Amino acid sequence: MTFDTTTHNSRMTHFDQHESFWLFGYGSLIWKADFPFLERKPAWIEHWSRRFWQGSHDHRGTPETPGRVVTLIRDQGAHCYGMAYRIQPTVLRQLDIREKNGYLRERVPIHFTSTGSAEGLIYLATPDNDAFLGEAPLTAMAGQIAQAEGPSGSNREYLLNLERALDDLGVSDGHVSALAAALPAIR
Ligand code: SIN
Repeated sequence: MTFDTTTHNSRMTHFDQHESFWLFGYGSLIWKADFPFLERKPAWIEHWSRRFWQGSHDHRGTPETPGRVVTLIRDQGAHCYGMAYRIQPTVLRQLDIREKNGYLRERVPIHFTSTGSAEGLIYLATPDNDAFLGEAPLTAMAGQIAQAEGPSGSNREYLLNLERALDDLGVSDGHVSALAAALPAIR
């Protein structure tokens, strides 16, 4: 299985002394906010693009049949839209467990619709983590997503929830909508 990132993440103490700080969600953290937060608002980060390139062996798939979930890739000039949550540092413990299959805490500037920016945190799965799958043809990725299911539910549901959540935010993400459109029908 994969490197458990929780110990590694707990050593990232940058925000420990902050009363609160911003976490930026770009995947399930947009539509599944099952953690305490003080406020939330739409936001974006710059020079990153969202991709279904991270394997999921623990939430939306299994070690035998991994699903695909989102991570971010560096993309000069791109904007990735999502949801920012103002949280207290103690919440990170539970987020580290939720995001344990390859995601590491990373500091980034987070931009808000009108009120400027703040330094915050993302959970990022980089290509060197064991669960990283990388790019594949669109139909292969959609086929894999259509088949996978894990303890948190189906991979299809993850993709469609993300598509709906982005739609609710008024955001169009070509990668997400292309994958959703390519999903084979349920038989
Ligand atoms: C995120 O949502 O920001 C990270 C990826 C995920 O948990 O789906």
